[in-house]
Amino acid sequence: MKKDFLIGQNKLSSLPPAIRIVEVGPRDGLQNIDQHIPTNAKIQFINILSDAKLSEIEVTSFVSPKWIPQLADAQEVSDKIIRDSHIIYTALVPNVYGLDMALDADYSSVAVFTAASETFSLKNTNCSITDSIKRIEDMKSSFQENSLRVRAYISTVWACPYEGNIPAETVLPIINSLFELGVEEISLGDTIGKATSEDVKKTLKIILSEYNANRFSLHFHDTYNHALENIKVGMEYGITSFDSSAGGIGGCPFAPGASGNISTDSVIKLCQELGIKTGIKEKKLSEASKLIQTYLN
Ligand code: HMG
Ligand code: MG
Repeated sequence: MKKDFLIGQNKLSSLPPAIRIVEVGPRDGLQNIDQHIPTNAKIQFINILSDAKLSEIEVTSFVSPKWIPQLADAQEVSDKIIRDSHIIYTALVPNVYGLDMALDADYSSVAVFTAASETFSLKNTNCSITDSIKRIEDMKSSFQENSLRVRAYISTVWACPYEGNIPAETVLPIINSLFELGVEEISLGDTIGKATSEDVKKTLKIILSEYNANRFSLHFHDTYNHALENIKVGMEYGITSFDSSAGGIGGCPFAPGASGNISTDSVIKLCQELGIKTGIKEKKLSEASKLIQTYLN
């Protein structure tokens, strides 16, 4: 079933027949949780997500354990999960040090990150936006030598917990720099879930006047229940990749007020309503969501 949409004066593409979901639960979902989650539970969670046939799973991050203690077991989790050759397994890395650990742990896909807000960049990575991009530049030769697939996050694209609304024009120069560094896909992050559908349209119009929609993913935290509507807007603008987390867990410890990612379960339901394929096995996804909920308060 094909549906055409017109928003304002802009002719938009029809809804896609299928989308891909990047499951960020094991990384974004767990990084903000205070109580220790046993390593074996994380491994089991990821293995069930693999059984659910997500297109991509962000397994963990190789960041400083002083900053994110919950994911200090990144190496062990990465070593012990059962990898399905049809799924992309990605590790988040902030610098060359983290990248080297990800390579040791046998990743061929990594995610790097920067932000559209200077204050958030400082709070999250202890450096300016320019310096965070310099850290990515330092990784470039390794991306090439190791034929890595690289995805990049831009956080606080629409709003920052410290600086408030971010002007829509801010993000394009950051996108230009990231693509120049060999990034394949950019995930646009609404870190605190504040973006409205009008905000999303405004930013996408600017970005998609320069780049093809297939180079982007949308990453919505769902603090104000805007995420599903915003995903629909993304689809109408031709985006076919969306980040979400099983059970809607998630948040960033350096973004006060941020709640969980939009749940993968809700994205699947939305897709069913719209006749869009995801290829995900719902029962297995639900099993994974239930499992991880048993470890959370
Ligand atoms: P720093 O303190 O400025 O780093 O932190 P440094 O280079 O001065 O090193 C300090 C210590 O950290 C040293 O150890 C280093 O060895 C160690 P010490 O000598 O004190 O024992 N170190 C590391 N250890 C492990 N792995 C590493 C690493 N690098 C240095 N890779 C740093 C800078 C970037 C490391 C720190 O700020 C950090 O780890 N930040 C990560 C914060 C984070 O993970 N935030 C959440 C992910 S982003 C997010 O959630 C948003 C997203 O979901 C999208 C959205 O929603 O918007 C992606
Ligand atoms: Mg996030």
